Amino acid sequence: MSLDVIILAAGQGSRMKSKKPKVLHGIGGKPMVQHVIDCALELDAPRIHVVVGHGADQVRDALGSQALKFVLQAEQLGTGHAVAQALEGTDPDGISLVLYGDVPLTRSETLRELVDIARQDKLGLLTVKLGDPSGYGRIIRTEAGQVAAIVEHKDASEAQRAVSEVNTGILALPTHLLIDWLPRLSSNNAQGEYYLTDVIAMAADQGVLIEAIQPEFEQEVQGVNNRQQQAELERWYQLREAQRLMNQGVTLRDPLRLDVRGNLSAGFDVVIDINCVFEGQVQLGNDVTIGPNCHISDAVIGDGCHIKANSVIEQAQLQENCDIGPFARLRPGSVLAAGVKVGNFVETKKARIGEGSKVSHLSYIGDAQIGSDVNVGAGTITCNYDGVNKFQTEIGDGAFIGSNSALVAPVKVGAGATVGAGSTITKDVADDQLSVARGKQRNLENWQRPVKQKD
Ligand code: UD1
Ligand code: CA
Repeated sequence: MSLDVIILAAGQGSRMKSKKPKVLHGIGGKPMVQHVIDCALELDAPRIHVVVGHGADQVRDALGSQALKFVLQAEQLGTGHAVAQALEGTDPDGISLVLYGDVPLTRSETLRELVDIARQDKLGLLTVKLGDPSGYGRIIRTEAGQVAAIVEHKDASEAQRAVSEVNTGILALPTHLLIDWLPRLSSNNAQGEYYLTDVIAMAADQGVLIEAIQPEFEQEVQGVNNRQQQAELERWYQLREAQRLMNQGVTLRDPLRLDVRGNLSAGFDVVIDINCVFEGQVQLGNDVTIGPNCHISDAVIGDGCHIKANSVIEQAQLQENCDIGPFARLRPGSVLAAGVKVGNFVETKKARIGEGSKVSHLSYIGDAQIGSDVNVGAGTITCNYDGVNKFQTEIGDGAFIGSNSALVAPVKVGAGATVGAGSTITKDVADDQLSVARGKQRNLENWQRPVKQKD
C-alpha cells in the first residue's frame, strides 16, 4: 500500500513575529518543514504533499527543486480542510500520514509505527501525556480504554479539560477513509473550523479501530509557535547531534556547547573542544582535533589535522596532518595538501598550497598556487587585486619568501628561489634566484639627533 505524506504548512505563525513563514524558520540550520520532508523521505513515501497558504510562494521557492506536490489552501479553514486540499493527488488504495511543517523533530521510527498500524486498516494516532495539556485537543477514551473522540480545548467541558492525554495532530490511516470522511466534516464548533480531529469520532462510530501510540521523546511532537519554543527544540536537536557524534567515537569536551547546522561526519578519535559551530557539509577524518571557538562550514578535513582555537574555515579542503591556527581564516577555494601549516592571523582564499608548506604568521594568500615545502614568511601579502581584476601568484617548490614581502600579481617565484625580506616583487623570479626589492640600507655616521630648542 503506497504512502501519501501530507504536510500542513499553510499557517501564518504570527507569534514568530517574522516576515518569513513559520515553517521556513530553522532548527539545526535547516527549515523546520525540510526536517519533516526529510523524515517523510526516510519512510520512502512516493508522494509528499505540502499544503501551503500564508507565504505560499516563499515556501515553494525555498523548497524549490525537490519532488514535492504543493497544494494551495487559499483560506485556512481548519486542519480538516487543509488535508482535504491534498486528497486529489493521493492514491485512494494507499495510506495517508498527516504531518505538520511546524513540528519538525518527529523520528521516522515513530512514524513508521503509525504507518504500520494504518496498513492494518486501523487509524494510527500519535498522542502524548502532558503536565499542562491546556490548548491541545484532548483524547477521550471509553471506559474500556478505547479512543472515542478528540475534543478541542475550546470545545471541551471542565471534565474533558482534566484529561492529560492530548492529540499531537499526527495520524495515519487508509486514504479511502479520509476520502469518505473529510467531506462530511462540519465547522459547527467553537472556532468555526473544519477539524481534522473529528475523523476520530467518525472512526469510532464506524467501528474502525483506533490505535494510539506515544513517541519515545516528548520533543518529537512539540510544535513551534514562537522563538522560545524554537530555541528549546534547537537545544534538544543539538544534544541529539552531540550524542550521535559521541556514539560514533567523537570526544566532545562539552556536549552542551556544540552546534551542528548541517551534516557533520567524523572519523574515529576526533576531539572537538567547546563552542564550535559546524555548518553545511563538514567531513572530519580520523584523529582530527578542533580547538575551542572554531567555525567550520562546507569543508573536508583530513586525518590528523589540528585546527587550533578561533579558526574560521569555509569551503576548504585539507589533506592529512595540516596544522591550522590559532586565529586562521581559510576562505572558499583553499586547498591544502598534507602537512601544510597555516598559522595565526593568516587568511587564504582560492589558494592551493602544496605538501609541507608553511604560512605561519600574519599573511594574506589569495588567488595563489604554492608548491611544496615553501616557507612564506610573516606578513607576506599576495597583492591579487588591482581594484578591478584579480591576478594569480605562483610560487614554486622549495621557495623561501622573506617576511613582509608583497607579491604583486600576476607574478611567479620559481622553485628554490629566495625573496629577501621586505621586498615588493613585481617581476617574475626564476628558479633558484635571490630577489631583493627594497630600498638599500644606508648607515650615516656623525648624524645628530635633533635636540629641543630653548626659547
Ligand atoms: C491542532 C489539533 C489539536 C492538537 C494540536 C497539536 C485540530 C483541529 N486540532 O490544534 O487537537 O492538540 O493541533 O498541536 O486539528 N493548518 C493549516 N491550515 C489550516 C489550519 C491549520 O495548514 O487551515 C496548519 C497550521 O499551520 C499548523 C497546524 O496545521 O501548523 C495545526 O493547526 P492549528 O490551528 O495550530 O491547530 P491547533 O489549534 O494547534
Ligand atoms: Ca497549533
